[in-house]
Amino acid sequence: MIQLNGFTKVVGILGWPVEHTLSPVMHGIAFSNLNLNWTYIPLPLPPERVKDAVRSLHTLNFVGANVTVPHKQAIMRYLDEIDPTAQNIGAVNTILLKGGKSYGYNTDGYGILRALLEVGFEPQGARCLMLGAGGASRAAVYSLAAAGASTIAVYNRTVERAAFLVDDLRLAFPHITFSFEALTPETLTAVNHHCDLVVNTTSLGMFPHEETTPWPEDVPLPENAVICDLVYNPLKTKFLQQAETAGLRGVDGVGMLIYQGAEAFRIWTGHEAPAALMRQAVLAELATRQKMMIMHEM
Ligand SMILES: NC(=O)c1ccc[n+]([C@@H]2O[C@H](COP(=O)([O-])OP(=O)(O)OC[C@H]3O[C@@H](n4cnc5c(N)ncnc54)[C@H](OP(=O)(O)O)[C@@H]3O)[C@@H](O)[C@H]2O)c1
Repeated sequence: MIQLNGFTKVVGILGWPVEHTLSPVMHGIAFSNLNLNWTYIPLPLPPERVKDAVRSLHTLNFVGANVTVPHKQAIMRYLDEIDPTAQNIGAVNTILLKGGKSYGYNTDGYGILRALLEVGFEPQGARCLMLGAGGASRAAVYSLAAAGASTIAVYNRTVERAAFLVDDLRLAFPHITFSFEALTPETLTAVNHHCDLVVNTTSLGMFPHEETTPWPEDVPLPENAVICDLVYNPLKTKFLQQAETAGLRGVDGVGMLIYQGAEAFRIWTGHEAPAALMRQAVLAELATRQKMMIMHEM
């Protein structure tokens, strides 16, 4: 445990709400492990205060911050410079303050790609189906496109949002075949089964709605596809249970969480993050929270 003092460097997470964030646990263990006199704190920020946030971080001498829902896009206009990846994704999840200036990055795409590579998924030439078209989907689609995917289909409840995402990325990756559809039982029934990866980037399945899934139970999942869920609470979502029943390889959302955090850690501190240790800490914290919820329900 780091003893805070006048030399402690401070980072945090800007979000609304941020009560349930796991990032302080994950970064806290990393700072401790590397014996860095740093700390990480949740910073609840209502949407109407976003415009003041970057200036406030400067004033209070923060080294940087993570940015989460709903500020990843809104924060961009208050930063001095935005890295090209974040610019292409259209969202910032990591801020670095240095030399009086603010720099925006997006490490979410890196996070999902590392999590997929870790289980042996090969993005080069892959045919990918993304369920959802929000911020996480943007980062995932961008990183899969940049890693050489051959086709990417985006299905979303609000089809216009899927169209918007695909139109944006078509410009950046003209050689990739993009398509979009409404996310409905009918369109999923008609999915071409020559698909290597299906990613749930919607919030379906997330606590407290664990009984929900983006994929209807009576529709078969694409044969041989890797099934990835970005939701990590619960760890084994209903969608991942469907994958298991179908005998398909499943990837949970913790990998993305850890690796986007590890990359932010590297940007702030210049050190490689102890990713395995961060994972252990996150899994332990999730298990504790699960236990507390069960006790609360009893
Ligand atoms: N593992 C990680 O590190 C990590 C990182 C970031 C996000 N995530 C997870 O990814 C999920 C999405 O996050 P985000 O930042 O992309 O949020 P977001 O920008 O608000 O997007 C939410 C997405 O979920 C869809 N959706 C929400 N409720 C739905 C419903 N009832 N039926 C069908 N679709 C629904 C939305 O569709 P519409 O466009 O139609 O509203 C949209 O596509 C969350 O569960 C979040 O926890 C995980």
